[in-house]
Amino acid sequence: MRKFRIAVLKGDGIGPEIVDATLLVLNKAREIFGVEFELKEGLIGGVAIDETGDPLPEETLELCKSSDAVLLGAVGGPKWDDLPTDKRPEKGLLRIRKELDLYANLRPARVWGPLIDASPLKEEVVKGTDMIVVRELTGDLYYGEPRGVFKEDGMRVGINTMRYTEEEIRRVVRMAFEIALKRRKKLTSVDKANVLEVSGLWREIVEEERKNFPEVEVEHLYVDNCAMQMVKRPSSFDVIVTSNMFGDILSDEAGVVVGSLGMLPSASLGDRHALYEPVHGSAPDIAGKGIANPVATILSAAMMFRFSFGLDEVGDLIERAVERTLEEGYRTPDIRSEGCRVVGTQKMAERIAENMERLRS
Ligand code: IPM
Ligand code: MG
Repeated sequence: MRKFRIAVLKGDGIGPEIVDATLLVLNKAREIFGVEFELKEGLIGGVAIDETGDPLPEETLELCKSSDAVLLGAVGGPKWDDLPTDKRPEKGLLRIRKELDLYANLRPARVWGPLIDASPLKEEVVKGTDMIVVRELTGDLYYGEPRGVFKEDGMRVGINTMRYTEEEIRRVVRMAFEIALKRRKKLTSVDKANVLEVSGLWREIVEEERKNFPEVEVEHLYVDNCAMQMVKRPSSFDVIVTSNMFGDILSDEAGVVVGSLGMLPSASLGDRHALYEPVHGSAPDIAGKGIANPVATILSAAMMFRFSFGLDEVGDLIERAVERTLEEGYRTPDIRSEGCRVVGTQKMAERIAENMERLRS
């Protein structure tokens, strides 16, 4: 079997803890399946600013470009909060997405049976929820020009620009249709077409592409309505496709609907590169305490085995081991519930790795 090159970017806050915990699972995959990796670490975010003055040093970018996949922890923290937006740790993340052209961000959110009581919603509402947000990741307000704070007639004016070319919309919409084909064949496209021209174009492209995927049922929702429907009828969603800004917001909502943001993995895919990271942030308030939930990162690694390495059986085993570990009652504090066994980051990952061994055949 070939050796997979993984760029490991631990980042800030809880990033190093959750990535280290995930490496236990990678090691277990190596033991069980004989998959070989070459892991190389790179700096990103606040630690990169401290060491090099740049949240995405050239060396890190080169490392990512020459790797088969990137595994990322999280970036950001209060230490760098006063820096201007273009110098902040988050800029490292935004630049890597753009430089690697990772235009489709897949954020699956499903309820895990043993965790159903972790959702703030009633069990009968959330039961059976299994959706995936396909968020466009390289356009929109995040990157549009002009941007900045300018002076106009002696008054400060803040400007950001919502911008999409039809090709940028089409490629992510197509990917969402293709994902829907492999799932329950239902696509919800989310926009704000009652107000925004960009959304009008988005809707047109979805309608054009729909002709190529006649088996897929399509619904269009305005983003405000979608935010509401997601808490009213979460289990009715299958694939949601939306722009960068709306997807950022809706995917956090999806996370809490199914229990905890600490469980939500993501894959950011382009035509040549792929990056895997948890949806949650660097959680500076609990950094260094060894209590962060490593599951979102571990499940991101499972997505890496599927999408980047074509090893579905490894991805399956990791997911089954996570489920078993939850069934056994192991919980990190963010998902604690009565009668459960609360453990730290490392212990949680160790148990998942042990369960991979147990469930292997
Ligand atoms: C996310 C995060 C990032 C985003 C931040 C950290 C720049 O919220 O990945 O959802 O807004 O994309
Ligand atoms: Mg976000």
